[in-house]
Amino acid sequence: MKIFADSADVAAIRALAEVHLIDGVTTNPSLIAKGGAHILQAITEIAAIVEGPVSAEVAATDYDTMMREAAVLGRIARNICIKVPLTMDGLRACRTLREEGRETNVTLCFSVNQALLAAKAGATYVSPFVGRLDDINLDGTQLLRDIRTVFENYPELDTQILAASLRSANHVTEAMLAGADAATLPPSVIKALVTHPLTDKGLQGFMADWASTGQSIV
Ligand code: G3P
Repeated sequence: MKIFADSADVAAIRALAEVHLIDGVTTNPSLIAKGGAHILQAITEIAAIVEGPVSAEVAATDYDTMMREAAVLGRIARNICIKVPLTMDGLRACRTLREEGRETNVTLCFSVNQALLAAKAGATYVSPFVGRLDDINLDGTQLLRDIRTVFENYPELDTQILAASLRSANHVTEAMLAGADAATLPPSVIKALVTHPLTDKGLQGFMADWASTGQSIV
């Protein structure tokens, strides 16, 4: 499963990229607002840091303006993946972008039916929002499993499932078990995947025993 950083924080993305922990980045208007930089500057910097896809989201809701924005965003770098909302205009833009050879990420997916439409529009990725379904007492990870089943039932659909709105390490495990192709995670969740109390405890023990030998390797 590919791991994307769900962030517009250039410093945090650079730190994760240096240890080769991420395969790409996703952003959205809320993350751009949080980051504080102009979208074109932020996306340019991020696209220079990572080789994989960088999802940059259009801000318009009508097809014509979406396409104009997509042209601007797409010119930034070859690894820009245009993110469009799962609306009629967004799906139409997705189809046109696919025909132009652009990678796309159809976002704000909350149902299997929506995922099917994104796939039929030729999306490279569809982003089901797991956490936001959990927030309203529905089962976000069940949606991932259901989309996986539908995509397996119809092998002509080549859209990848990009599990989004993942808020915890448990969500990440569930996304893997559901067969998501990729997961986008806030940097804090990526860091949480690394840590385990038994790893910390084990390392302390090794370090104490090593110190008792009086040896050094370098
Ligand atoms: O990239 C979109 C998504 O991951 C948003 O997550 O936590 O705002 O629901 P969240």
